[in-house]
Amino acid sequence: MTRFGYFDDDAREYVITRPDTPLPWINYLGSEDFFGIISNTAGGYAFYRDARLRRLTRYRYNNTPVDVGGRYLYVRDRETGEFWSPSWQPTRDDLGDYRCRHGLGYTIIGSTRAGMRVDTLYFVPLGQTLELWRTRITNQRDSSVGLSVFSAVEFCLWDALDDATNFQRNYSTGEVEVDASVVFHKTEYRERRNHFAYFACSERLVGFDTQRDAFLGPYRGWDRPVAVECGESANSIAHGWAPCGSHHVALTLAPGETREIRFILGYWENAIEAKFDPPGSQTIDKRSVHEVIARHLDPSSVDAALTALADHWSERLGTIQVSTPDEHTNRTVNIWNAYQCMVTFNLSRSASLFESGIGRGMGFRDSNQDLLGFVHMIPARARDRLLDLAATQLPSGGAFHQYQPLTKRGNDAVGSGFNDDPLWLILAVAAYVKETGDAGILDAAVPYENRPGSEAPVFEHLQRALQYTLERLGPHGLPRIGRADWNDCLNLNCFSETPGESFQTTENRQGGVAESVFIAGLFVLAAEELATIAERQGLGGVAAEYRSARSAMATAVRDHGWDGSWFRRAYDHAGNTVGSATNDEGRIYVEPQGMCVMAGIGLDDGRAVAALGSVSEHLATPHGIVLQQPAYTRYRVELGEISSYPPGYKENGGVFCHTNPWIVIAETLVGNGDRAFDYFLRINPSAREAISDLHRCEPYVYAQMIAGKDAVVPGEAKNSWLTGTAAWSLVAITQWILGLRPDHDGLRVDPCLPAAWNGFTARRTFRGARYHITVRKPAGVAGRVSHLVVDGHRIDGHLVPLAPEGADVTVEAFIGPDVYSIPHSRR
Ligand code: GLC
Ligand code: GLC
Repeated sequence: MTRFGYFDDDAREYVITRPDTPLPWINYLGSEDFFGIISNTAGGYAFYRDARLRRLTRYRYNNTPVDVGGRYLYVRDRETGEFWSPSWQPTRDDLGDYRCRHGLGYTIIGSTRAGMRVDTLYFVPLGQTLELWRTRITNQRDSSVGLSVFSAVEFCLWDALDDATNFQRNYSTGEVEVDASVVFHKTEYRERRNHFAYFACSERLVGFDTQRDAFLGPYRGWDRPVAVECGESANSIAHGWAPCGSHHVALTLAPGETREIRFILGYWENAIEAKFDPPGSQTIDKRSVHEVIARHLDPSSVDAALTALADHWSERLGTIQVSTPDEHTNRTVNIWNAYQCMVTFNLSRSASLFESGIGRGMGFRDSNQDLLGFVHMIPARARDRLLDLAATQLPSGGAFHQYQPLTKRGNDAVGSGFNDDPLWLILAVAAYVKETGDAGILDAAVPYENRPGSEAPVFEHLQRALQYTLERLGPHGLPRIGRADWNDCLNLNCFSETPGESFQTTENRQGGVAESVFIAGLFVLAAEELATIAERQGLGGVAAEYRSARSAMATAVRDHGWDGSWFRRAYDHAGNTVGSATNDEGRIYVEPQGMCVMAGIGLDDGRAVAALGSVSEHLATPHGIVLQQPAYTRYRVELGEISSYPPGYKENGGVFCHTNPWIVIAETLVGNGDRAFDYFLRINPSAREAISDLHRCEPYVYAQMIAGKDAVVPGEAKNSWLTGTAAWSLVAITQWILGLRPDHDGLRVDPCLPAAWNGFTARRTFRGARYHITVRKPAGVAGRVSHLVVDGHRIDGHLVPLAPEGADVTVEAFIGPDVYSIPHSRR
């Protein structure tokens, strides 16, 4: 419990106990086609599939006061004229017993004021393109009360960028219809759109508004709409300007009485030939949507939909459930981290409070890495995602850096040439095959660049990805970096001196020769994965070829990527080192330490241990591991965007959380369970809950960045929710610290635990069987699993063989030297 809230793990909720959190703390609604962002004070917006092109409601990013635009309600006492918002915003009156419960796919916000308890539940029913709001009002006074309840949303004219910029047109296009208790927003429906939005209410209305300025009154904001203040709607019909939706419901509540009002904010498409009713008119044909509205306004359907939603999440999260001695680990693994991974699956980096929903589509490397965090929960959808990604690969083996979710086409504006991109596809496909056993995906025919006729098996896509690196080696035999590698801001072939120019797409050093040690590590890792896959496909020769390329690359890293105490980062365009003791700033970077050790480089010659020692000495801080040190204190034209950030922020020495789990994994590979777990906790949101005043972002999800030690306020987080940190953290804790690691031939149980733990238990569903796992560690004994007992049978090592689908398997894993570990032959 902090001054902002607490975890309610049994309910799988975070409960916020005051509205003025350091930043708006948000949740996501929806998991298929219809999505919403909702803050703890009901701010946020809704969209259908694409946050830019099909936005239903307006939200004002970077506004003051913050978090304006939302799903608002006003309650007005008809006798006294007093009114307030039960979610605090937008009126921001003092509230009693304010609670916001963010749960899995739903949010409940409520409070008490003037003897009225008001709670509103918001969620998107599975399979629907709408969100439901259920408001319950209880009169706690000992006399009856007459209330007016007003709702309010502001419609976005679909394309969020155009909506925020093209006023000369947009002030003249807005159109609505009002039919009984439903407001229909139909801007551009008269021309090429066959979709509209609607805002429905379960009650008979005493009034409504659809013209924003009539509802608010001149020069007023959402905090004091004139309609609410006077208790009277204008019954306005929007004509251009800014369409909104507001219902006005009048209620009389006896003492102790509770009343319920339901609202629906939805999206609907009509067939192009059935847009109007009657045909030839300009009136929306509402016949198909009416049925949907009626069904969802029915009170019993709300409960059923809510139960279905809870079951849906139980099923997804049920794939892995653990019980360890650490509460942060338990709630991270069992609830929040897995949930966050699903949000990154849905939204990549498109819509959060830090991503405006306008900028980026689906990132190629981002989506491949995100997959590592959700593949076990939604294998079929993961497969589709992989096929979409592979289809945006170019014939060269390279990849579009991003693609648009609505069209699934590569984004020409950003293009390709981020030379790490294609290799991530190999890791993602390997993870998918290990999780599901579905090697059939390797034969699936997928085009290049979405061009019909260019279809080739996924396996060939992976081969080309590997080949792409091999065809682009630099002067030291290391992979050329292209526009950037994982670190989007290390732009070594681009020398930008023009303000505002893109650091990534301005290529002013044609045929740039800058090299990346990070990509080399990634290549070594990916080549081994693909060699294993090739071998299992019966292609021993191909596997041998990849293993030899792998070992040549590892040699190049040893010869030119090792700096003496750590792995170097890169060679710049002029052949100078980046991330070396010879540099004055940026002497050591975290990424190659993590990636090279994960690839196994240096595990046999002490370099891995030395590199990790250097991380601990130079990069680890109480708030996480910073990206590099010393941070750049001035702009360096030859390094690119990285030095554009002030020291301690983002890639310039921030704790770029995505990289921290790589070090966690690396530490488990050298057997250092204490350090691995310590690093895991340093960026863990739950473990940082107590310092929410400093951290500022939500304590239930990872943030992309925590300000580093050189920053003005070290420890302050930014960019929560949509980050690769989610997937990698879940992988690090579940597969490496807890050691529950899917492999081609079974499930590995190979933990590397902190010394203080005596073990843990877990349930893992894997290829259709349920494994009930107990890891035991005789007190005081550290080390790795020596043997397993699977359904009563002893197995040396840590690989649990595959069980038939539907089986329940009991696994006991024993850590450390043990009297039974004598080889069978000598017993
Ligand atoms: C952001 C990008 C990701 C990149 C990282 C580091 O998270 O989405 O693709 O790897 O920044 O620059
Ligand atoms: C990543 C980085 C960000 C950079 C962007 C450019 O998202 O985190 O700092 O501006 O890439 O593409």
